[in-house]
Amino acid sequence: MKLSDRLYSFYAGIKMKKLGMYFITICSIIVIWKLTVIESGVDRLQILREALDLHKEELQLSQQQLILLEHLEANRDQKSVPTIYAITPTYYRYVQKAELTRISQTLKLVPNVHWIVVEDAEEKTNLVRNLILESKLIVTHLNAKTPPFEKFKDKERWKKHRGVEQRNAALTWLRNNLHLNIDKGVVYFMDDDNTYNIKLFQEIRKVKKVGVWPVGLVGGLNVETPILDSATGKVKGYRSGWKPNRPFAIDMAGFAINLDLMLAKPNAMFSYTMEKGLQESEFLSYFTTKEELEPLADNCTKVYVWHTRTEKPNVNGVVEGFEV
Ligand SMILES: *[C@@H]1O[C@H](CO)[C@@H](O)[C@H](O)[C@H]1NC(C)=O
Repeated sequence: MKLSDRLYSFYAGIKMKKLGMYFITICSIIVIWKLTVIESGVDRLQILREALDLHKEELQLSQQQLILLEHLEANRDQKSVPTIYAITPTYYRYVQKAELTRISQTLKLVPNVHWIVVEDAEEKTNLVRNLILESKLIVTHLNAKTPPFEKFKDKERWKKHRGVEQRNAALTWLRNNLHLNIDKGVVYFMDDDNTYNIKLFQEIRKVKKVGVWPVGLVGGLNVETPILDSATGKVKGYRSGWKPNRPFAIDMAGFAINLDLMLAKPNAMFSYTMEKGLQESEFLSYFTTKEELEPLADNCTKVYVWHTRTEKPNVNGVVEGFEV
């Protein structure tokens, strides 16, 4: 090889290396620039949060708005996850605080939940207000008193209307404050005495219209469940301790309804005129048919919610100074 040729290939090698270096440098610059843009986005959110936090007195930001702000930050990556609107009617009794503590701490483990707590009371109580504040969940706190003619004796509770007024108050709030086709989510009636596996909420988020699943320890059975047709995978009936031939023999804890559908059917409410024990069944018939139900929890083979009952405690004395 001639010297000039050798020199040529030597220089060509350097040229290629140089080009490679340029390429790598440019790529690095782009990556670093992108990273700073993302960083500064996060920084700005952080600065915004701190500024709002600093001036919260002047801005009169409520505790709820501050919590919302924190959730915004925490849920940056989960914008597409539909919100679960969990409606919890509650009333005063000795175990109320214990029950609500359990429920709120379950919800702490679930992303993107909006908890709607409705007290059966003339006025909202400090007990519930404090519990909500402490939970740092996104909460709407309402109250709706059950009319006296529907008050219950303990032993008859299973067949009496309970929660009608409170669930309706929550539905009215949803319909007055959320917008069809804009707000996205799923509505679930989450009584304060049941026990919930957090996997249930992953199922609830899948609901397109009305989703159903088994409920443990209810109606005198270890589990009540929709029965699926093995050929079609659709609901063909129910295993239920009471009137399995109801159009929807499903406990309140055993279904969830898409927000779109809830907002599109403003007349769907609970009512005292619904036959006792048929609340769920009549309510669901506003929205869907048996054939349309979406079986969840692995084709209704898993139990993620139980109808637990906390024993009424035997309290013979009251120690002053405690909010128990
Ligand atoms: C549920 O059942 C359907 C049809 O019956 C089947 O295609 C599907 O794989 C099942 N899903 C699960 C999670 O078992």
